[in-house]
Amino acid sequence: MFSDKNIVVGVCAGIAIYKTCELVRELKRLHANVRVMMTPGATRFIAPLTFQALSGAAVSVDPFEIPQQDDIEHIELSHWADVIVIAPATANTIAKLASGMADNVVTATVLASHAPVVLAPAMNTHMWENVATVENLQRLKKRFFYIVEPEYGELASKREGQGMGRMARVERIITQILYAATQPKRLAGVKITVTAGRTEEYFDPVRMLTNRASGRMGFALAEMAAAMGADVTLISGPTDLTPPDGVQYFQVVHARQMLEMVEKQYPENGVLVMAAAVSDFRPERFSQNKIKKSGNRLQVNLVPNPDILATVAKRKQALHVGFALETDDELKHARDKLKRKKLDLIVVNNPNIPGAGFAVSTNKVTLLFADGKTEELPLLDKRLVALEILQRVAEMLER
Ligand code: C5P
Repeated sequence: MFSDKNIVVGVCAGIAIYKTCELVRELKRLHANVRVMMTPGATRFIAPLTFQALSGAAVSVDPFEIPQQDDIEHIELSHWADVIVIAPATANTIAKLASGMADNVVTATVLASHAPVVLAPAMNTHMWENVATVENLQRLKKRFFYIVEPEYGELASKREGQGMGRMARVERIITQILYAATQPKRLAGVKITVTAGRTEEYFDPVRMLTNRASGRMGFALAEMAAAMGADVTLISGPTDLTPPDGVQYFQVVHARQMLEMVEKQYPENGVLVMAAAVSDFRPERFSQNKIKKSGNRLQVNLVPNPDILATVAKRKQALHVGFALETDDELKHARDKLKRKKLDLIVVNNPNIPGAGFAVSTNKVTLLFADGKTEELPLLDKRLVALEILQRVAEMLER
């Protein structure tokens, strides 16, 4: 999904560097052209040879080094880059970037480049919270550097235990790079409510009716919408996924709770994206106690759940995007749904296509628009599907 994108990865001296190996691999796997540059300190953690093998290209370390024949000089690297990503970005390098220094190949390349810069800071909690770092990051944000906030968790030093400052997960950094490589803050100020995951409809304290939706598509949409500057509310059914940064998050269990939350968080004049796989039925009765084994038959009556989209469509005051999962004659059924639920866009996926649908990280979808237009997208990573959908949404809003 990064084909033809040139990504320069700047590596600083931090223990999180082991995740940068994974980042470079993942970028290559997603067909990016990758060049790695390292600060001298970074080479004390991992030798350039490792990054050379992972990126398939020479690694820049010393700005005074005479380049080999097929090398890109570091000054050229600054022109070559579509996006520069610094991971890990240490407090030291962040400070240097904030003041415009150019004392090594990483800082010099950033200073000489017009490309968007994504920073994935990693440091101990005290450094992260230090006013100096806070101020430096504020200065960089004003210059439109993209900051992938670090995460809370176990830090490198045993003495510190848990804290803020772990470098963000590779997927979060990739999302930010993808975004930086494609779009400016196109959804700035737009209110977007996204639903995700499955609902669980219990008929006793431990048993329920549900489906296999993982929540990945909805979470990718929420994360990408936030990266595009939207004001995002994410309402999800039960899931193991971590809610993205900067997103208002609500967890619900069953469809009626989801309906209530969607009504409460209805994005007036904004966008509602219903990516949740809501159970169409629920058990008629709920038993407070676990149902005992008795006889050889248990009858559970199911009654229909409210249709959330159809309910809010009655007083529609936002752009509505729905999803449809069909196994046969999918476009016809989806078009019916689009009309019936008064949608502006419906995203159709067919779980029978390998790599599409539930519980996988890729998806193959077709977009059907209210004006009759149809657009088929290739098999893509769900984050890129999210980006495509949100770009169409932005276009509709701009009209
Ligand atoms: O009718 P069907 O369930 O296939 O429609 C799918 C779309 O409708 C999805 O966007 C889903 O989130 C939404 N939906 C809903 N309320 C339901 C069932 C589905 O809003 N009870």
